[in-house]
Amino acid sequence: MIQFFTNFYAEYGRFIVFLHVISAVIWVGGMIVIKFIVSPAIATIQDTKLKLSRILQILQRLFNFVMICIIVLAITGVFMNLGHDFRHSAPSLYILIHIKEAIWTLMVINFIYIYKKRNKAEREFLSGDNESTAENIFIISNYLLPLNIFLGFVTIYFGIILRGL
Ligand code: HEM
Repeated sequence: MIQFFTNFYAEYGRFIVFLHVISAVIWVGGMIVIKFIVSPAIATIQDTKLKLSRILQILQRLFNFVMICIIVLAITGVFMNLGHDFRHSAPSLYILIHIKEAIWTLMVINFIYIYKKRNKAEREFLSGDNESTAENIFIISNYLLPLNIFLGFVTIYFGIILRGL
């Protein structure tokens, strides 16, 4: 079985690493852009209804991308791990694979929580409760997104260590 992965990785390794890195770029980069570029710009909109509807829409669009990235990261991560056969070829680094898997899981749990919070905010927005909508968006933007950005940085750094740098 492991032979299949090492052969496959020898053949398509470059493509697999590309997909892994590009998915990390879209997920982590997308969150950074929303938190530090889009949100401050949207905050300047005076019309509260328009402001809330825009941010809800932007979050929904990000989620569509992120869902694909989450799956691609896990699949390519498994292929890279087995392709390198880290367990035998670099046992001292192998623990980092489990740590990366654990961080990925935390990021997904946080993502699901953000997703549900956004949906709740949308329901409140549709029922005309702007205050609760803004409250939920505030929690997403100020606590949940920064947490996932931080976890993303950590797992990217561990990826670089795994690369041998
Ligand atoms: C199931 C979870 C994951 C596993 C098993 C995994 C596994 C790996 C492995 C084995 C490498 C080393 C590749 C190599 O040496 O060729 C790597 C690199 C990398 N990982 Fe992950 N990863 C996971 C999740 C993530 C997540 C969630 C992110 C970011 C959001 C991420 C970002 C990166 C990046 C940017 C690199 C490339 C580092 C470089 O090019 O030097 N990984 N990952």
